[in-house]
Amino acid sequence: MLSPVSQQLIQLPVTMKALLTLGLLLFSVSVQAKVYERCEFARALKRSGMDGYYGFSLGNWMCVVHYESNYNTTAINYSPVTKSRNYGIFQINSRYWCNDERTTQAENICKIPCSDLLRDDITEAIKCVKKVVRNIQAIPAWASLKAHCENRDLSHYTQNCGL
Ligand SMILES: *[C@@H]1O[C@H](CO)[C@@H](O)[C@H](O)[C@H]1NC(C)=O
Repeated sequence: MLSPVSQQLIQLPVTMKALLTLGLLLFSVSVQAKVYERCEFARALKRSGMDGYYGFSLGNWMCVVHYESNYNTTAINYSPVTKSRNYGIFQINSRYWCNDERTTQAENICKIPCSDLLRDDITEAIKCVKKVVRNIQAIPAWASLKAHCENRDLSHYTQNCGL
């Protein structure tokens, strides 16, 4: 039978190993690109008050995001027409909405660095996207909305999500 002191000496490295493993796990999770699962994203949208925001249904958002980023928070795509980039899960454009320090005549209406739009946490992206929607008549947004989502049956995007 080991004395309590020598038991502690044996257990310490085990604890450290566990902490190290946990640390590495958290680190890899935090640097990983978050790709939302369909229903997870639908619920996040709903919680953020996006269902029906300025007349945009949940299905509309799900459809747009499906085509724009496939729910990938770190998606970045260059748009040759506007010589700017689209950032994040909503593919928000650096010509108008955010600052990436390499787009000429950028307006940065959301007053955020574009990198904020690539976070796992979509709080900032949602705030900005609400601004986009409020301006959607004035500034064109999301070609995929017209091309793939408007006047379609969008019910499958939120099917079996418990919403
Ligand atoms: C998400 O987007 C990033 C950046 O474009 C890419 O490297 C990654 O492979 C994408 N993830 C998935 C699952 O498509």
